[in-house]
Amino acid sequence: MALPRSLGLDGLAVVLHLLLLFSYPWASSTSSSVPGSADEGFKAELLVVEPISGAERPEEQGIREFLARNMEPRHAVAVVVAGRGSKRHKLLEEVAADKDLSHLLALGISFAKGKTSLKVYRYMYDEEVYTGKWTRNAIQSWLQDVSYPPVYRMNQQFAPTKYLTNNPFGVVLVVKPLSEHSDALLKVLEPHAAKFRGRLKIALFTRAAGTTQLCDQYGVRTDNEILLLEKPQETFRGSRHSRAPLAPKHRMENLTLAGIDQFFVDYSAGTLPRYLTSPMSRQKHEQKLLADAAAGESLRELAGWDFVHTVEDPKSSVLVEFVSTNCESCNEFDEAYRQVARKIRELSLPQNSPWSNVIVARIDQSANEHTEFIKGTPWLKYWPRGLKKRPVDVELRSVESIMQFLEERTSAEIDEAKDSLSSTSRPKAGGGKTETKALPPQAKPSAPIVQLGQPSPTKSRGYLSTDSDLSEDSGLADDQEGEL
Ligand SMILES: *[C@@H]1O[C@H](CO)[C@@H](O)[C@H](O)[C@H]1NC(C)=O
Repeated sequence: MALPRSLGLDGLAVVLHLLLLFSYPWASSTSSSVPGSADEGFKAELLVVEPISGAERPEEQGIREFLARNMEPRHAVAVVVAGRGSKRHKLLEEVAADKDLSHLLALGISFAKGKTSLKVYRYMYDEEVYTGKWTRNAIQSWLQDVSYPPVYRMNQQFAPTKYLTNNPFGVVLVVKPLSEHSDALLKVLEPHAAKFRGRLKIALFTRAAGTTQLCDQYGVRTDNEILLLEKPQETFRGSRHSRAPLAPKHRMENLTLAGIDQFFVDYSAGTLPRYLTSPMSRQKHEQKLLADAAAGESLRELAGWDFVHTVEDPKSSVLVEFVSTNCESCNEFDEAYRQVARKIRELSLPQNSPWSNVIVARIDQSANEHTEFIKGTPWLKYWPRGLKKRPVDVELRSVESIMQFLEERTSAEIDEAKDSLSSTSRPKAGGGKTETKALPPQAKPSAPIVQLGQPSPTKSRGYLSTDSDLSEDSGLADDQEGEL
């Protein structure tokens, strides 16, 4: 929901914008009306700071009044003091015309002869004085950076354009009830804010009635969590049949001061797990998985919560179908894929079956985020078992061809696993601490890569040959109705 351009009254536009801030009517609409575009309500122009006539210090009080009027909701105001019609006046007019700045701060000029200055006043933090070169680019990039306070402490107002939809940096939302936005919290956050200043902007935020829609859109689920978005301008759009992975997001629940500190340490180290949004809570998703398993469901439904964990599990070979809503071909393929899942499940039932580590899964990418590049749905990808898993696209669409593919792949993987088991008795050059330890000849590895009954070469190979298990499954060869 954008404000119409024809709304000439700047004051009215700002008032409307304030009213909109806590209802976010745009959040449910499409990308065409994302605020922060030119129509968004903040004018990209240099405002004039009028002196208060009759006051003791007319200019100074004029600036004070200007700050009070323009602080909310962006919480940053730049004031240049310069001569009317001077070069610096012209320069700042050019700077202020930049639409990428107008949603970050208000810019005003107070006319004065003699000394010039440029200051940025920020909510709850000291002002910053510009000491750089008076060139357009230098001033613009300085303003872009300093218009964000070290840690933004949300009070009544939050500007989604500044922190989310039109934020050129990454953002960290520290979500807590307003009453818990304490000085102690700021103290923990400020050193990290300083360290990541050029990359991440930190805001104390809250999940309240007015922000619920925004929270849902970005994946904030509680009023006690931290959410890091590397590219907040990106939003998850459900309706697409094709999809490119979004920039990394990370999330942690149940905050403690020490936990927050650790979150940033882990982020630096690159060890935080990815957060992928999902419409269901993690708990509900887990309950559904258990219910599905109890009901004998052979197709594993993945969500943002368990996607990465499942496909990267070194012990499993994982076939994933990517589907989306309003996808007719997905519906046509559905029965064939379910048949594959049922067959794999039957094959996996006998004890020590090598098929027990084959997972047939599906993810609805209209509802759940994932990490893959998908050109169109339905799409199949296969992750072989092993430590360095690289998925391959599977362009097969019939039950028979998919079964044959799985049979070939898993049997090759079992051979590889077996080879790597026997090779562990040789010390590897440059191997890690645990890997270089030679195993005693008969010892079972503590964490077997595949679960074979006994490490007997002929036996494990035999499990996957067509003339044993698969031939017992009738109807495989003439099962063609799933072909698209
Ligand atoms: C956070 O706390 C809630 C409520 O006590 C609990 O249900 C949830 O499992 C916790 N989350 C984590 C990640 O520990």
